[in-house]
This record gives sequence, C-alpha cells and structure tokens, in this order.
Amino acid sequence: MCGIVGYIGHREAADVVVDGLTRLEYRGYDSAGIVTADSQAQLEVVKRAGKLSILKEALKTNPLKGNIGIGHTRWATHGKPNDVNSHPHLSEDSKLAVIHNGIIENYMPLKAKLISNGHDFVSDTDTEVIVHLIEEHYQGDLVEAVQNALKEVTGAYALVVSHIDHEVIVAARATSPMVIGIGENENFVASDVPALLPYTRKVIFLHDGDMALIKKASIELSDFDGNIVEREISTIDWDAEAAEKSGYEHYMLKEIYEQPTVLQNTFGGRFAANGMDVELDLGLDPNSINRVVITAAGTAYYSGAVGEYLIEQVAKIPTEIELASEFRYRKPILDENTLCIVVSQSGETIDTLEALREAKRQGAKTLAILNVKGSSISREVDDSLYIHAGPEIGVASTKAYMAMLAAFELIAIWLGRARAELSDSVASELIQALRSTPGLVEHALEEREHIAQIAEQFKDKRDYLFLGRGINFPTALEGALKLKEISYIHAEAYATGEMKHGPIALIDENMPIVAIATASELYEKTISNIQEVKARDGIIISLANPDDEQIAIHSDHVIRVPKVHELISPMINVASLQLLAYETAHRLELDVDQPRNLAKSVTVE
Ligand code: AGP
Repeated sequence: MCGIVGYIGHREAADVVVDGLTRLEYRGYDSAGIVTADSQAQLEVVKRAGKLSILKEALKTNPLKGNIGIGHTRWATHGKPNDVNSHPHLSEDSKLAVIHNGIIENYMPLKAKLISNGHDFVSDTDTEVIVHLIEEHYQGDLVEAVQNALKEVTGAYALVVSHIDHEVIVAARATSPMVIGIGENENFVASDVPALLPYTRKVIFLHDGDMALIKKASIELSDFDGNIVEREISTIDWDAEAAEKSGYEHYMLKEIYEQPTVLQNTFGGRFAANGMDVELDLGLDPNSINRVVITAAGTAYYSGAVGEYLIEQVAKIPTEIELASEFRYRKPILDENTLCIVVSQSGETIDTLEALREAKRQGAKTLAILNVKGSSISREVDDSLYIHAGPEIGVASTKAYMAMLAAFELIAIWLGRARAELSDSVASELIQALRSTPGLVEHALEEREHIAQIAEQFKDKRDYLFLGRGINFPTALEGALKLKEISYIHAEAYATGEMKHGPIALIDENMPIVAIATASELYEKTISNIQEVKARDGIIISLANPDDEQIAIHSDHVIRVPKVHELISPMINVASLQLLAYETAHRLELDVDQPRNLAKSVTVE
C-alpha cells in the first residue's frame, strides 16, 4: 500500500504534495519522492529512501517550483527501499513521470520486451515498466499513450502521470484506491481522503477502470477506451483523524475490512496461468529439503501452526512449528536439508530474528514470510516471500495474519507441486478455492451485527474458551489471543479433543465457549466434544457453515461462516473471531488500536 498525491492549480505544487504525503504516511514509509513541472524544459525530481522527513530535508536545500506536481510515499513490494527504487519514476529524457500504488503482475515479461526494444531500466521496481510503456506509445497525446500502455498491463494500480509538455495530470485506477479532490481553479488526486481535507471536501471516488484528465479548471472522466463516464461528487464530513481510518472508528476495524483487498495483493501475480501451479520467484530448490521447521512469535506463530498442517498435508514434508523465543534455547538439531521458515509482520521481532540466526548457524536453508521490506530479518534470511499487506497500524494483527495464512497456502502448493506430491486436480481445487477467499472473507464479515450482539452479551465475562480441531486448532489459538490482547478478558484455546483431559473442569454456566465446527473430517467428533461441554452448562458459541442444520441444537449461538475447502477454512473462520474480539473490546471502551502493555513490534527478548 503506498500514498499518492497529485496537484494542479495556483499554489506551489511541492507544498501541497508534501503536505498530502504527510497525511498519507500511514500507507507506507519506506521512501518518498516528488516531481514538479515548472517552466523548465524537463520535470524536476527529488526522491529519497527512508521516511518523509528525509525528503523534506532534501527539499530544503533543493526546493522544487511549479504549479503541477505528483508525489509518492512508498510501501515497497518490488525492489529494495532505496533512492533509485523510490517513486516518481521518470523517462530517460525526464519529460515524463509516473507514481504508482499496487502491483503490476506481468511486469517481468513487459520489462524484457521493453529492454529488447532498447529501453534502459534503472530500478528494480515493477512501476518503471509503466514509464517505458507510456514512452513507447507516446506520440503527442498523453491520455492516448497512457490508455495504450495500460492495455498491456495486468495487475492492481492507482497511477498518476505527469508530462512536462502537458499542463495536466492523468490518473488511472484498477483495484488500488484513488480519489479526486475538486477545488477552486485547482484540483487534486490522492490515494485517500486525508491528503485532500485541508483544501477541499468535494471529492470523486474513482471506480476500477476509470481514467481522469485533471486540469486546473476541469476534470474529464473516462474509461480506458476514452468513453466518458459520470461519477458522483461526494462531500466528506470526516475530520482528519477519521479520514486516516477511512471513516472506520479504529485502524483495527479498517484493517479487518481491508482483508479482501489484502488477499488480492498477496495472491497478485502468484497464480500460474495453468490454474494448477503457483509462481513464488524463490531461489530455494524444494527437492533439496527433507524437513521444515517454522518459527515465529504470537499471531505469526499461529499462522505457522496452520502452515505446519498445510505443508505436511499438501507437500508431505515433515514439518514442525516452534516458538521463536524457545527455539534457540532448545538446542534444536537442524542441517542443510532443513528448511527453516521464519514468519514476521514487522521483520524486527528479536525472538524470531535470533531463531533465524540459530537456524543459519546450523546450516539450515532459510525463508522468511514478511510484510516489511528492508527489515532486519529480510537482510539476514536466504529468501523472502512478501505478504503485501501494507502497513498494519493496529497493534493487534489482523490483515497481516490473514496474508500470512495465504502465504502458507501458496508455499504448501509450491512445495507440493515441485515434489510431485500434489496432483493437478487437487492443486486446481485448492487454487480455485484460494481465488474465492477475498469474496468469502467479505461475506464472513457481513455477520458483524450478529457478532456484535454476542460480544455485547458476554463482554463482562471473566473467562472465555476457544476450541478447534485439526487445522482450526491454531484458529482457536489466534481467536483467543485476539480477544485477550484487546479486551483483557482471560481467554484460552484448546484442541477440542483435549477438553476431556482436564480443562473441562473449568466449564460452568458462566463460561462462554467458542467452538469452531465448520466442515471437517473431524466434524462429528467436534459435535461430541461440544455436547460434553454443553452437558456442563457451558455457553456454546459455534462457528458453523450455512448448510449445517444440526449445530443449532447443540449451541446457544451460531455464527455462520462461508463454507470452503477445509485446508483453507482458517482464512475464513478467523475473520469472525477478529470481529468478536474487536466488538468486545470496543464495547468495553478500551483502546483497541493500542492495548495496554503491548507494542506493535517486540524488539527485546
Ligand atoms: C499480534 O496480534 C500481536 N500483536 C503479536 O503477537 C505479534 O503477532 C507478535 O509480536 C509477532 O510480531 P511480528 O509478526 O511482527 O514478528
């Protein structure tokens, strides 16, 4: 997720763009850059790796003039966060500049074609491909060149283009958000509303497939074929803080609802055209390993616990999950045939970083599942698979967990296919199911009102139990963690079959028990376990699929979740548990985004 701002009008563009980027820095802060068009023969650019403050310092000594400008604050997806990979990206003659939020899925073949056509690339980004494509199509009409360039591109993008010979900025949207601000003899474009609020509250939210030709005194909307489109002008009544949360009351809730889009970004470009394979661009040889060890902390650990099931069941490789904080003190036995997968949203968790170092000391191959490019773990691991979840502001991890699960699904399929353990039909079935997950998660979140009622009813309970079997035991663990870390209610998770070995002594009429009872080979056993708990007067809150007609007999409340392949069900089931935790903490009027005692990244042991 990146922040984009464009301006054309009577003010100094650099001031407006930098101010807008400051209000969008929550969308990414790996690097930042700005281009302005003045009366010179070429665009003027300043761009720097690092936070926006570094760009602001550079602009003090190298101020940019002009009433047209575009700027970008980056969340790196392709290419390290350094100066040359920062946006804007310019054409070789510095007449054309592009900024982009999203992922160009087919950038590699396009880059190869453009290089063979004589284009010189200077960065490792996918975005630079767009600059050279527009250059290739430009014959004086900027909009036409952008339209023709985008016809060759597949992926998600919010794109803004500036050209020194045209007193316009051109914007185009496909999946990634973009909004136009309407001013008096000035106009704006940005990734999100906060950048616009100091100047205007009249906005147009672009739809997928929209293009905009933005001039000082006019805005022309069209589709990518040039057909005029009409869009509603909205008036924003949010304050600035609400706007950063896109109108949601908390970042955590915003990030829960971002999950369908995040999944599209995590999967972006990684499904092969044959519908049976995935393309992860990893250097590891899947046939060089005979064992997998996954290690992480907290929520990332629970994603790894799901990953353990997936890799064993799909790729048939012995796999174990290890707590990062215990790993190196346990003196594990690893060797060059072990693949150690470390998982970390921040890439800075010291427990996980030290576990990685222990694995490397023992000669294991290492792979990281990460969200933040340029993080400490990314610099020490052999290879990384990025989850593209964008900055996660809420301390309680939601969208990053969802994206980690998606990453493990991809890795399990990739290993299984490379080792001939996963048939065409099963691979195709899993990939089809994965492609449906953004919609299924969106559907699961529609239960929010019902979940909120349950949260209201039990928000004052002292204890909760979460039960899950098989691949959804980690889902129960994550659900319990979400609840306890933001509502401060004591919540524990158990493998459902484990209850009878002691924990069932805890059950009484004051104990809400969340039981995951979605479609599974273990469904009948789960029902038996639920009956055991019900017989002790426990309050049963079941998660079940819509077609389950018997679950209500055994439950006090049923939260319906869309049905999907069991190996993918953790992705759908967790969304309901995230909402249960959020609605509980919200009703307790607690600090949902910054719970007591916690930090977003734990960099101490
Ligand atoms: C998740 O809700 C918690 N905030 C915490 O458990 C977190 O998952 C853990 O500290 C690991 O962080 P990381 O993914 O950045 O390594």
